[in-house]
Amino acid sequence: MLKINNLHASIGDKAILKGINLEVKPGEVHAIMGPNGSGKSTLASVIAGKEDYEVTEGSILLEEEDIEELAAEERAHKGVFLSFQYPVEIPGVSVTNFMKTAINSSRKAKGLEDMPAKDMLKMIREKSELLEIDRKFLSRSLNEGFSGGEKKRNEIFQMAMLEPKLAILDETDSGLDIDALRIVSNGVNKLKSKDNAVIVITHYQRLLDYIVPDFVHVLLNGKIVKSGTKELAHELEAKGYDWIKEEVGA
Ligand SMILES: Nc1ncnc2c1ncn2[C@@H]1O[C@H](COP(=O)(O)OP(=O)(O)OP(=O)(O)O)[C@@H](O)[C@H]1O
Ligand SMILES: [Mg+2]
Repeated sequence: MLKINNLHASIGDKAILKGINLEVKPGEVHAIMGPNGSGKSTLASVIAGKEDYEVTEGSILLEEEDIEELAAEERAHKGVFLSFQYPVEIPGVSVTNFMKTAINSSRKAKGLEDMPAKDMLKMIREKSELLEIDRKFLSRSLNEGFSGGEKKRNEIFQMAMLEPKLAILDETDSGLDIDALRIVSNGVNKLKSKDNAVIVITHYQRLLDYIVPDFVHVLLNGKIVKSGTKELAHELEAKGYDWIKEEVGA
């Protein structure tokens, strides 16, 4: 599904990613952990095609296709979904209308007609129930005045609606209360299938009790310096990152 080879990326003249190799197969869940500033969000943004970053070396293949030249929107249409660490507000656009527009523009890119209103409403109802989202919430302006946890939950709702091939969740767990963490994680788990894949970026092992990863990677100073199974996350929780820094001589 996703193959990243020797990816280097910078912002201005500052190199941030320094040779990332990562392969994600359909049906897999990968967790990316690592200290603050190690490049996790940058990696997510570069995969999603955010323009601030320049890829200076390496390649990103999505289903064997090099997506480097594609704009963020085109990548989204190909099934890449990125939840933001800091979601934006769009005053005057309701959650429901935002979703309708997003879904129909993605259908248009695939040469499909708008989703019939009836189907759209049914889908909104099903997915909002899955994530235990209040109906009143759906008519509010996108992210305006949303609490931190509401923003995160709304993002997973967007993900549920868009049914991406590759979902990247950047610190979706931060700021969620205990119940919301469980609801959001259950939502992600229910959306998982053998055909899609998830990359979760998190600082805490806790989330990985709910969304169990097949692989855990440690990003340090722009490189994946260690990969393992879910036990690696437990080890990090217990020991921090210093031992890895020593191991790799950083
Ligand atoms: N727009 C930017 N301008 C300058 N430096 C940037 C920019 N974006 C990212 N960086 C730098 O790149 C490095 C990696 O940042 P990134 O946000 O990817 O880290 P992170 O691993 O997601 O950290 P955190 O765990 O705190 O979210 C940091 O040193 C950051 O200051
Ligand atoms: Mg980050």
